[in-house]
Amino acid sequence: MSARFPVARPRRLRRSPALRRMVAGTRLHPADLILPAFVKEGISEPQPVASMPGVVQHTRDSLRKAAHEAAQAGVGGMILFGIPAVKDARGSAADDPDGILQVALREVNAEVGDSVVVMADTCLDEFTDHGHCGILTPSGDVDNDATLERYASIAVAQAAAGSQMVAPSGMMDGQVGAIRTALDGAGYGNVPILAYTAKYASAFYGPFREAAECAPQFGDRSTHQQDPAGPLEEALRELRLDLAEGADAVMVKPAMTYLDVITRFREEADVPVAAYQVSGEYAMIEAASANGWVDRDRMIMESLVAIKRAGADLILTYWATEVARRL
Ligand code: PBG
Repeated sequence: MSARFPVARPRRLRRSPALRRMVAGTRLHPADLILPAFVKEGISEPQPVASMPGVVQHTRDSLRKAAHEAAQAGVGGMILFGIPAVKDARGSAADDPDGILQVALREVNAEVGDSVVVMADTCLDEFTDHGHCGILTPSGDVDNDATLERYASIAVAQAAAGSQMVAPSGMMDGQVGAIRTALDGAGYGNVPILAYTAKYASAFYGPFREAAECAPQFGDRSTHQQDPAGPLEEALRELRLDLAEGADAVMVKPAMTYLDVITRFREEADVPVAAYQVSGEYAMIEAASANGWVDRDRMIMESLVAIKRAGADLILTYWATEVARRL
């Protein structure tokens, strides 16, 4: 073999940290990151979430502190989830102007709203006593159109409380259109919708249901969330529908097990694409790290870079503040 072979040597560009940094094709920026946070009504101390070490159910005060830390780190947005003291079948607290989520939205927005996009998850499962994402029929199905009326009212209550964006996560047919119409009719035509567009019926939401106290009391969400084995065309159909209904940004969820869907969304959509690195993705890395089995910090960065490289413009991650500080 000639001593001059090979001519093409990809290793040349990998020789030094400076070279690798200069040619890196994927860059994370704090502004791309959105921090999900839980706020619980009527508690005086933050409550740790056992299956998500490092994540808590916030008090109103500790949430404000977390919001300042996120703002300081340059995080782009925060998405709030509320856990009310009292739940009922229709999730009445979800659109109560004095409900925990609305109170938290007002407070957080007042403090960091100039630098952080403060938004709300628009759903019912945290607020219903049965834990489902909507209004139930007598036989226990989620009633799509009755639920749309609730979502419309919740989105308006959230916008009135200062939510700068609303993020419907219930996977009801027509949810984006119903919310758009309601927001426009109530004078909130300038509030954008971040649609959970391709949301899969995933085992990776397990820890979230402890954090948000919203595990369904019976049944599951597979009649409305997408089947993980469903065809890619199903996700693309949801994308077309959400864009036609007026979605301002679209989301794929979970992230790491659906990188192919993120890539297709980035190719097809003419709006920002978000990906949600969900509770189970967080818990897996934290648990393995706690056992000393993996390098936590590198694994976190690698997971986020993969999601970004797949095509996500925005990433919802429970590590948002920590990672933003590190960048
Ligand atoms: C519904 C909602 C869920 C998550 C975000 N919004 C739970 C579900 O669909 O069961 C999951 C987020 C996570 O696992 O981190 N309000």
